[in-house]
Amino acid sequence: MASYVTVASVSDIPPGSAKAFTIGKEFIAVVNCDGQFYAINNVCSHAYAEMADGEVDADECTIECPLHGSIFSLESGRPRTLPAVTPVATYAVQIVGNEVQVAVS
Ligand code: FES
Repeated sequence: MASYVTVASVSDIPPGSAKAFTIGKEFIAVVNCDGQFYAINNVCSHAYAEMADGEVDADECTIECPLHGSIFSLESGRPRTLPAVTPVATYAVQIVGNEVQVAVS
């Protein structure tokens, strides 16, 4: 069963930015999409690139892989553009007070 773990304060991840965290065995990118927070696996599904280094599009709620440019939905983890074809894992996020919490197993 998943439980929520505090990873940061809201102010640590400004709108339009992403930050990487290791929680247990999970390597996770937490992304602030204009005030809405999402969490995805930090490693691209295509090759090794850290998604938190990618560019966030707050309007589309996506992040672009910094290596080959696949654009991933932050809501579903699915790639919208090639070369990636496999989704990255997504994790539930909640905000409690000023804390950003991610659900991990
Ligand atoms: S490593 Fe991300 S698209 Fe290739």
